[in-house]
Amino acid sequence: MTASSVPADAANTLENVEVLISQDTIKTRLDALAAEISAAERQDLLVIAVLKGSFIFAADLIRALHKVGLRPEVDFITLSSYRKSMVSSGTVDILRDVEVDVAGRSVLLVDDVLDSGRTLAFAKDLISARGAELIKTCVLLEKQKDRAVELVADYSAFPCPETFVIGYGMDLAHRYRELPFVGRLVTEDG
Ligand code: IMP
Ligand code: MG
Repeated sequence: MTASSVPADAANTLENVEVLISQDTIKTRLDALAAEISAAERQDLLVIAVLKGSFIFAADLIRALHKVGLRPEVDFITLSSYRKSMVSSGTVDILRDVEVDVAGRSVLLVDDVLDSGRTLAFAKDLISARGAELIKTCVLLEKQKDRAVELVADYSAFPCPETFVIGYGMDLAHRYRELPFVGRLVTEDG
């Protein structure tokens, strides 16, 4: 495809998006995080990615874990607390459950953003109630404000800029997930 045949939409979208954490920065940090996880966690790790926002982070993280010698089992749970808005609704729904039996397992829950803490606290309680032996949490971005529930991430790649972030799997109304970096929408009033 030549430069002139790039659809106008793609270019316009990027003009509205500011890069906050670049692709290279993410890659370097994930390699370090994987080394940290591999050194501290059991080898028979079960990674559970909390979809949908974590799908790109989890995909990159498990490949980084593989590079440092871990061979995790991987499953997914789809939870929803955001719907189409930027503000958490306060309730968490299971849209799709895990398939693996988590009883007795060492589980690493992987999520995109730790904000109010409700999503990860819900996932942690659920997996714990099903008898997991050890549950750790790993997030790409940790927002710094007060949590609605008490939850400290065991692993966190970056502090989250105090704004609504998009890209690298994260969406606003199902858009922008494909961006290879973490960014924010730039509106006319900044
Ligand atoms: P919590 O339950 O309030 O901690 O919210 C966590 C979930 O909300 C994350 O898993 C994200 O999917 C979503 N979320 C929170 N902040 C953002 C954001 O800035 N951009 C995109 N999604 C977000
Ligand atoms: Mg999420």
